[in-house]
Amino acid sequence: MEKFNTNTAPLVGIVLGSGLGDVYSCIEKADIISYSDIPGFPVSTVAGHAGRFITGTIDDVPVIVMQGRVHYYEGYMMEDVVRPIRFMGQLGIKTLLLTNAAGGIADTLEPGDIMIIRDHISSFVLSPLIGANDDRLGVRFPDMTTVYDKEYIEILEAGLKCQGLPVHKGVYLQTTGPQYETPAEIQMFKMLGADAVGMSTVCEAIAARHMNIKVAGLSTICNKAAGLGKDLTHSDILDMSSHMSDKMIRIIKYFLSEYKRRIMEWM
Ligand code: HPA
Repeated sequence: MEKFNTNTAPLVGIVLGSGLGDVYSCIEKADIISYSDIPGFPVSTVAGHAGRFITGTIDDVPVIVMQGRVHYYEGYMMEDVVRPIRFMGQLGIKTLLLTNAAGGIADTLEPGDIMIIRDHISSFVLSPLIGANDDRLGVRFPDMTTVYDKEYIEILEAGLKCQGLPVHKGVYLQTTGPQYETPAEIQMFKMLGADAVGMSTVCEAIAARHMNIKVAGLSTICNKAAGLGKDLTHSDILDMSSHMSDKMIRIIKYFLSEYKRRIMEWM
C-alpha cells in the first residue's frame, strides 16, 4: 500500500460515479488510500464501487479523486454518506466535481449523453445537514440558490462542445434507491421538473455547499428512465457507464485545464 501523501494539498475533489473508475488512469503522481484504511470511514458494499481515494495531479492541478462512493441505500446514515466529502473539504479542496450514472427523464436525453447538472431536487432524500450544526463546517441554514457554479457550468459546456458532444443541462433528482423507479414515479418526477434521476450526488452537493466548496456536476445518462425505454438492470447501466468513461475523462481533463488557466483570475 502506497502512503497517503498529505502534502499534495488538493484543490479539486472529484467523485467518480458507477463504472467510471477508469478515470483514475489519467492521474499523475498517484497515491492511493482505501476507505477501509481510514478509521470511521464508510465502505461501499456495491460491486462497481472500489472505495478509495487517489491523490495526485491532472494537468498539474492537485486533485483528490474518490473512486467509489457509499450510498444511503446501503444503510449508512446520511452523515456517513457525506463523510468523504467533508474529509476532502477539511483537506482544503475549493472545488468539487461530482459525477454519477443517471437515468434520463427529459425527452432530449439519450443513453450515451452527458448532462451538466444545473440544479437539483433533494426533496426525496434526507438532508445530510440534519442534526446539530457543526459551525466549523458551515452555517445552520445554508443558501441553495446556486448549488452548481455558473462559471463551472460554462466550462463544462465549452468542454462538451470542444469534444463535439451535444450539450445538455438539466435538473438531477436523487432518490434513495436501491430499487429503480416505477414509470408512474418517473412521470411524477418529470412533472416536478427533473431531467435525470439517480441515487447519489445531491446529498454530496449539499454537504459541499454547506462548507462553501464550489460544485460542478455531470451525469452520464446510462438509460432511459423507467417506462421510457427498456427494463432496467444494474449490469446494463454499469456497462453503459464504463463505455462512457473515455468521454468523461476528456471532459474532466478539459475542466481541469480550463480551471488551471482561469485560476489566476479567480485567486
Ligand atoms: N434510476 C436511478 N438510478 C440510476 C438510473 C435510473 O434510471 N440509471 C442509473 N442510475
